[in-house]
Amino acid sequence: MSQSEKFYITTPIYYVNDRPHIGHLYTTIAADVLARFQRLRRVDVFFLTGTDENSQKNVEAAAKHGYKNIQEYLDVMAATWQSTFSDLQMSNNAFIRTTEKRHRVAVEKFWALVKDRGDIYLGEYEGMYCTGCEGFKLEGDLVDGLCPLHKKAPDKIKEKNYFFRLSAYRDRLLEHIDNHPEFIQPITRRNEVRSYIEKFMEDVSISRDVSSLRCGIPVPGDDSQVIYVWFDALINYLTGVGFGSDEATFVRYWPADVHLVGKDIIKFHCALWPAMLMSAGLSLPKQIFAHGFFTIDGEKMSKSLGNVIDPLEVVKKYGQDPLRFFLLKEITFGEDGDFSLKRLQDRYQGDLGNELGNLVHRTLSMTEKYQAGQVLKGKNTNEQNLLKDEWSRYEQAVLKLDFGGALEIIWEMLRWSNKYIDEKKPWVIAKEQPDLIPEILFNLLERLRHVAWLLKPFMPETSAKMFEQLGIADHEAQKTYEQAQIWGGFPENATIVKGEPLFPRLEE
Ligand code: MSP
Repeated sequence: MSQSEKFYITTPIYYVNDRPHIGHLYTTIAADVLARFQRLRRVDVFFLTGTDENSQKNVEAAAKHGYKNIQEYLDVMAATWQSTFSDLQMSNNAFIRTTEKRHRVAVEKFWALVKDRGDIYLGEYEGMYCTGCEGFKLEGDLVDGLCPLHKKAPDKIKEKNYFFRLSAYRDRLLEHIDNHPEFIQPITRRNEVRSYIEKFMEDVSISRDVSSLRCGIPVPGDDSQVIYVWFDALINYLTGVGFGSDEATFVRYWPADVHLVGKDIIKFHCALWPAMLMSAGLSLPKQIFAHGFFTIDGEKMSKSLGNVIDPLEVVKKYGQDPLRFFLLKEITFGEDGDFSLKRLQDRYQGDLGNELGNLVHRTLSMTEKYQAGQVLKGKNTNEQNLLKDEWSRYEQAVLKLDFGGALEIIWEMLRWSNKYIDEKKPWVIAKEQPDLIPEILFNLLERLRHVAWLLKPFMPETSAKMFEQLGIADHEAQKTYEQAQIWGGFPENATIVKGEPLFPRLEE
């Protein structure tokens, strides 16, 4: 791997009609893990997230909170999102807001390309629109006349709008999906999108009458219309890497390697967006990966049920790493799942406190007790390249976005070590055959060194603490990803620095 290889990853841009909740964090944390993993391999990463601001939902929220000036509300909320992500140490390279000037420039440029292709026409739209989804609805999308997601009757609208010739791309989209199995993942989502494109996809209205909307980017050359929020929002993925403002950066990073999205927005990302790019003559993202949705204790997360979880509250109690661990271990990425504070507490105490924290504590205590904190290799220390298989399985899992699988490999290593201590009983050996102790401790310490490396993308704070306590933070910081993987790399004569427990016991 080298710096010449690039990796461009995005999250959806979030509506700012509310503060970030745990579901939004889920997508962003997953993207952060991938970004950190690729940086570990010295790949040149661009990780983009941001806010979707030209939405009617935001306008309604501004009014509800008593703001007369919408931009003022957007600025306050965008700052809240940005600071939440930075408090949670998300490693995004940039944060895009769709009310930025550079975005408007990019959207105008994009519109012109699509128009020149002959894919925009003026038509009459008569139908239904759900503001909750910011999407047009067909009769078949509704349940008892209501949007099933937002439980509200959509607005009936009849307007002159600009349309995008989406249906003209049906065959090319299907062909692309069929020829690129990795394009839409997981496969269930690919099938869903494929059938939508084949059977239901129609041309789509991409503007609204300015009299019915109070936000948005004006249609170039026609001030009576503003651009439909999704048409503008998707283009953020281009603006974020310089489309229309910084050609060199754009050429370097586009196309995106992964758009990470929730399963709720796959039609926009897997049908409309690639068709827009085809029309504009730009290359398509390499992959769109849709994760599932999670409930809270079996219930849909909603304000009215009062079960919306604020990630900052969770982090205040447990720290950010336990939250990252929990979300990615408890819920299979790509499938639906459930979040529960009770199970978070259990995993905090079990997987983190007992299996990881105690192992570090026991190993360091023994190193203090039997070797005055010094690390020794011991004469029979295994020189084979152990753990090669673990590293390669881990890497394959992360590259497939099987985060739970990658964590499981690390936990297999921890369980191996815990069992090794229980079976070897170093406290007995220390009395009977003390010359065997260095080898036993080296096996444990060296495994912990590997674990700290593998945890880096998932639990960056814990990994850093482990390197400190093992006394090798500076030493390991000099290593490349490939060097880190070589068995036996723990420097002899390092001195461990036993610190605070990694996961102190907490009140339930
Ligand atoms: N603004 C659009 C996206 C435009 S992208 C060009 C949007 N925004 S959103 O604020 O509603 O955020 C949606 C994303 O948040 C979902 O796609 C999903 O990634 C994440 N989630 C929101 N609730 C969630 C759960 N309950 N569970 C998992 N993810 C959740 O849609």
